[in-house]
Amino acid sequence: MSELSLAVIAKLLVTPGKGILAADESTTSIGKKLIKAGVQDSVENHRLYRELFFTAPGMEDYISGVIMYDETIRQIADDGTPFPKLLSGLGVIPGIKVDLGVKELDGSPQEKITIGLEGLDERLKEYYTLGSRFAKWRAVITIGEGIPTDNCIRLNMQTLAKYAKLCQLNQIVPIVEPEVLMDGNHTIQQCYEVTKKTLAVLFEELKLAEVDLSGLLLKPNMVIYSLEGDKVSSLAVAEQTIKCFEEVVPKEVAGIVFLSGGQSEVEACQNLNEIVKQGKHAPWRFTYSFGRGLQNSALAVWAGKAENVEKAQEAFLNRASLDSAASLGEYDSSLEIA
Ligand code: G3H
Repeated sequence: MSELSLAVIAKLLVTPGKGILAADESTTSIGKKLIKAGVQDSVENHRLYRELFFTAPGMEDYISGVIMYDETIRQIADDGTPFPKLLSGLGVIPGIKVDLGVKELDGSPQEKITIGLEGLDERLKEYYTLGSRFAKWRAVITIGEGIPTDNCIRLNMQTLAKYAKLCQLNQIVPIVEPEVLMDGNHTIQQCYEVTKKTLAVLFEELKLAEVDLSGLLLKPNMVIYSLEGDKVSSLAVAEQTIKCFEEVVPKEVAGIVFLSGGQSEVEACQNLNEIVKQGKHAPWRFTYSFGRGLQNSALAVWAGKAENVEKAQEAFLNRASLDSAASLGEYDSSLEIA
């Protein structure tokens, strides 16, 4: 795949009817997730869990790319094939999360700054040799009393722009993920305002860093209610999301791939479907880059048992096929299996 341009790879990641599987939880996060599901936390169980998704028969019909974590990109399937090779053999583009998590922001400890720029150039070079053709960096913005501060937004967006530029210099498509969290009890209107401000600053910084937007994907939150606030309809989520993006996201951006955040699998799917329907005339292709939104049912079915792998794969493929339909605006809730 080395001969493809960044713009071509970015477009392939948003191929109609396909989206991205985010299998990039850090070693600590995946461990917590497994323990919660009653599975022992071990490197081998991380590998078995990821293999379940990567070898699900026909997953390539719905999945254009997979975001891995440093541990995962070095792991090998039962048949001896390294995971990146297994994926590219299916026509699925291997990707890698390259940020190193978050730390408290100086002077505003309830806020976070994402770290990982140090040594990033070398790491990107190695990930390229391991087969990675796209990367992801997540910044988190929290809505609360007096936050987010302008400083938090600006520093995180500057960091995202520096990361994106380094990726492109290394022939890797950057996915920029400025996530406005659903945590708290704010309204959809507050989410709209903070998301709009964050994205406006992001695109200012990307411009200053001379990042080529045709070789970049945006991974945003939907403009949505909060976890403790009142829910609104999918139509309202879609209208606010499209309005926000039309105001601040340049049309040159290669595609918009949503995170699922704290939504349930069904909610994320329904909301994506409505965004696609309402955004028919928008300049970007919308699709999914879900972690929890694609994995939750499969993890519950698997529960760490070899005899459940096939059933867990069926659960994953069912979810992926419904998300695929949603990315085309063709989801129908009657297709959900009770
Ligand atoms: O950074 C977050 C992941 O890539 C997406 O995860 O869909 O569970 O929010 P999520």
